[in-house]
Amino acid sequence: MDNSKLTYEQFHKILRQERLPAAIINMDALDLNCEKIFEPVRPTGKMLRIASKSIRSIPLLRYIMEKDRQLCRGLMCFSVEEAAFCAEQGFDDLLVAYPSVQPSDMKLLGELTAAGKRVMLMADSELHLDAIAAAGRRAKTTCLAVIDIDVSYRPLGGKVHMGVRRSPVRSGERAAELARYSKKKKGLRIVGAMGYEAQIAGLTDDNPFTRKLNPIKKAIRKISVSDVAARRKAATEAMVAEGVKLELVNGGGTGSIYSTTVDDVVTEVTAGSGFFCSHLFSYYNDVKLLPAAFFALQVVRISDPGLVTCHGGGYIASGETGPDRQPIVHLPQDCTLIGLEGGGEVQTPIVLGKSAPELSPGDPVIMRHAKAGELCERFNELILISKGKISDRVPTYRGQGKCFL
Ligand SMILES: Cc1ncc(COP(=O)(O)O)c(C=O)c1O
Repeated sequence: MDNSKLTYEQFHKILRQERLPAAIINMDALDLNCEKIFEPVRPTGKMLRIASKSIRSIPLLRYIMEKDRQLCRGLMCFSVEEAAFCAEQGFDDLLVAYPSVQPSDMKLLGELTAAGKRVMLMADSELHLDAIAAAGRRAKTTCLAVIDIDVSYRPLGGKVHMGVRRSPVRSGERAAELARYSKKKKGLRIVGAMGYEAQIAGLTDDNPFTRKLNPIKKAIRKISVSDVAARRKAATEAMVAEGVKLELVNGGGTGSIYSTTVDDVVTEVTAGSGFFCSHLFSYYNDVKLLPAAFFALQVVRISDPGLVTCHGGGYIASGETGPDRQPIVHLPQDCTLIGLEGGGEVQTPIVLGKSAPELSPGDPVIMRHAKAGELCERFNELILISKGKISDRVPTYRGQGKCFL
């Protein structure tokens, strides 16, 4: 029996005694997603860095890593505090992918490094490098920095910008300048570069919410592959020419897994959201994964025929706000949110389509969040289902009393 795709009846039976809302991970689907993500990376000898922001549960991060210790050697963390928490939980090789200069973070970075943990902090300016160097000197150690290279697609001389607005480092010359600057700094060593191609990794080209735009998005994804590779190459070569010993070149995300993996310059590929495959990650033409993370709401009332109203459910995702940032109804099939109300803070009405079963108060409705890790900010615990039965319960970061962003 294929337990990677559970039916509504299976969810109903499994959740009968459960308190709702509840967050659920189907481990059979997660296992298949792991294989799908690992598969293209394995033969290249590159490492797979797991984006912890997209999991936010220590036991599940451990579970995914332990599937292939050779391949998954480190985490991409989303804050220094989070990296410290992961280090405390036994993880090492922690790339903090977003810069910080606040004193508490810099102190932590110094302490972690002095304690022998390999923690690397992102930098894209002299100011970032100064803060990292000072942290290293204060802790009588050498703190590690990684330079963030902007690999956005910027045609028409930069008048158009497709990608994220993060790093201003866009040329080999600028990367070389930062490398030269770092040489004069005690307490600091640049060990790597990262070029995150959000315009490929985060651009869904088979998105039912953007049907008209999908062909354009597909074209942008395609066009920018060679541009990204050229930019990463130029920046890393310039850094090496300045004497930087590059220990890592990071790139990618779930949505670019196939193109990032074949970039020769890249030594490690990041993926996170694909493991849970929240609903935005079901909308790529090439990357095909299985929904593995859900939340179940309790039907509590029936206001009109053909409608049910659930308790809670308005777990809206970050990003450009639009209908695709709402959760979607996974099961029963043929059910949708109401455009005028959407997912509510306390009450979420759901339209039952023609082929949907009748639902009564007490029945569950199975939903999918748009984003992967953000689901975990709403729940203390994840119910793990394996072979159609509850196999375990594990805490989220929140369940361990942690909230970082
Ligand atoms: C620096 C960086 N790398 C990679 C990713 C991709 O992660 P995921 O696989 O969860 O989409 C992100 C997502 O925002 C990111 O910020």
